[in-house]
Amino acid sequence: MKDLREYKVMATGKIRQVAMDALQEQVQLLSWQQGGRMPKEQFDEWLAQADAIYSTGNIRVDEALLAKAPRVKVIAQASVGYDNIDVEACRDRGIVVGHTPGVLVDAVADLAYGLVLDSARHIVRGSEHVKSGLWGQRKGLGFGTDLAGKTLGIIGMGDIGSALVPRAKASKMQVIYHNRHQRTDDAQLDVTYVSQEELLRQADFVVLTVTLNPSTRGLINRETLALMKPTASLINVARGPIVDMEALYEALAQGRLACAALDVTDPEPLPGEHKLLTLPNVTVTPHIAASTVETRDAMALLTVENILKGLAGEALPAQVK
Ligand code: DGY
Repeated sequence: MKDLREYKVMATGKIRQVAMDALQEQVQLLSWQQGGRMPKEQFDEWLAQADAIYSTGNIRVDEALLAKAPRVKVIAQASVGYDNIDVEACRDRGIVVGHTPGVLVDAVADLAYGLVLDSARHIVRGSEHVKSGLWGQRKGLGFGTDLAGKTLGIIGMGDIGSALVPRAKASKMQVIYHNRHQRTDDAQLDVTYVSQEELLRQADFVVLTVTLNPSTRGLINRETLALMKPTASLINVARGPIVDMEALYEALAQGRLACAALDVTDPEPLPGEHKLLTLPNVTVTPHIAASTVETRDAMALLTVENILKGLAGEALPAQVK
């Protein structure tokens, strides 16, 4: 087996210092740490030399990219989602793909819960109200709604969805969920499995934690939004294209949906002049669900581990199957 130092690992964007240190110690790191976008010529030149790719999620891994990366054996992405990677095409070329499940669960569940709270209590809207001087002018903000006694509907009850449950229970909510398959621990979690249609009809807060794939793209659209209560809120911490943004805008603007809180949008970044941002009943955060120091470092270190194991010809600790 080759000494790891003989391998070149290309990072596609800025990576955490802990990952830099770990990789520089063990392999040859090709990494663009200057500000701005890596020039295309530089990107292609490194791609041609790389044995592994550390993806920060800013690239589309498709046939075209793989054709320019003849030496690559491992692609490890510092995120749990990997909808930007053609896993089948990688498999056909014998390339193993890694991601970072597990380590970000609590951070993402916290943000999802925060957005549920914000939808109920208008925290961001309240702050904007004060900052714009409206409180000083004795203008009212309007009332929020209690979480206690309300129903949270989780679409996509994996690790993140189930980590949201105790948070919702702390606010005395009931939890229903929909998944491709019913879980075996419903009683333990104190949750109820329902069809997607039932969930949309019953839930006061719908949280999307499902992965983006052809069956979930556009899952929230005009028809599914029409099933939701006009008093309900939609929270998306999964991927932007799961929601039809135009249909969401119409539902919110026409009062057919109370509120939306989105950590992910379509497109990303969402342009500042996007019409959704003109609505008072929308909170948008810039895809920060996993963006805490501790979680980003843990994701970076798992990505490094995936790369090093892959280069050594061993099973990745977090391999996409
Ligand atoms: C992920 O890891 O997929 C999250 O969206 C974090 O950015």
